[in-house]
Amino acid sequence: MDILSLNNISQEFFLPRKLTDIVTNRPARSIRAVQSMNLAIHENEILGIAGESGCGKSTTCMIAAGLLAPTDGDVLHRGQALTAMDEQTKKTFRRSVQIIFQDPYESLNPRFEIGDTVAEGPRAMNLWPEEVIQEKVRSILAAVGLDPDRFIKRYPHELSGGERQRVGIAAALVMEPDIVFADEPLSMLDVSIRADILTLIKTLAAERKFSCVYVSHDLSILGNVADRIMIMYLGQAVEIGSAHDVLTNPKHPYTKALISAVPIPDPTIDRGVPKIIGDLSMPVNAHKGCQFAPRCPYAQDTCWQEFKSLSGVTGLHESACLREDAPDVLNEVVDAN
Ligand SMILES: Nc1ncnc2c1ncn2[C@@H]1O[C@H](COP(=O)(O)OP(=O)(O)O)[C@@H](O)[C@H]1O
Ligand SMILES: [Mg+2]
Repeated sequence: MDILSLNNISQEFFLPRKLTDIVTNRPARSIRAVQSMNLAIHENEILGIAGESGCGKSTTCMIAAGLLAPTDGDVLHRGQALTAMDEQTKKTFRRSVQIIFQDPYESLNPRFEIGDTVAEGPRAMNLWPEEVIQEKVRSILAAVGLDPDRFIKRYPHELSGGERQRVGIAAALVMEPDIVFADEPLSMLDVSIRADILTLIKTLAAERKFSCVYVSHDLSILGNVADRIMIMYLGQAVEIGSAHDVLTNPKHPYTKALISAVPIPDPTIDRGVPKIIGDLSMPVNAHKGCQFAPRCPYAQDTCWQEFKSLSGVTGLHESACLREDAPDVLNEVVDAN
């Protein structure tokens, strides 16, 4: 059974009306942060989510982790809708779904010793007797590479960024979750230590058998860690499939453009990718079609009118491009550029 599924999730944020909107009687504007998203996270998989800043990656994670109620659609944990859970099931959900935060400098309480930080979740939920909690805290600290004898009594300010992020990982994993959301967990860290933390998350996911949703705007990181990859553009899932398929045989013009932006150190190689025009727009009062249409060299009228939601469930390679059936035309346009 899938651990977590998102069924047709949408999230709209209404922006406060400005004075000029009020005097000109303009209706409230809204941002469609996530639109008609379907996604199932399978057992023991690492699912990567990629896309430019502001495309709705964090909002998707917050909704999936139960921290934000979606405007529309259902989140199911092991087949049970979050909105219909009784207290006991909700407690299990809160324990089973954990988050590793982006910023290890902000997410740790500066007044708590590391041991207490990691023990906080199990204590708050009364998961085990205190001696068992102590034992589990020591064991998870060792598992994330922090010697418990050296670190348990220390405070966050005495730790490096990488060590703090290890504490964040320990605090999530001590709950023995079945799914962990890691929302750009490396972005605040030095490049030199990123690979170690990435390997740690990947190894622990395999050893402790939890699924992981790993968010990054960096495709080369996802290529190293993810089993499947979902690409988002302005609130819409535009492509999903095995990491290998998406990276080596991208179908959606946006994915092709993203991959072409990964630098390769040989200027003579021409990857024959579509040239993206224009800037990333804000999804304010978005049109109802494909959000990539304004920048897509292949867009036709239908692309502005219709958007194809992905099922995101089967694990097969899917693209939301309405023009996927016209590869010859696409190639001609690429050649013309
Ligand atoms: N609480 C909020 N109120 C209004 N707009 C928001 C809120 N949270 C996110 N947004 C907007 O929703 C869009 C998606 O944001 P986010 O999910 O944080 O993107 P990402 O994580 O991919 O950078 C952005 O345009 C962002 O400005
Ligand atoms: Mg984000």
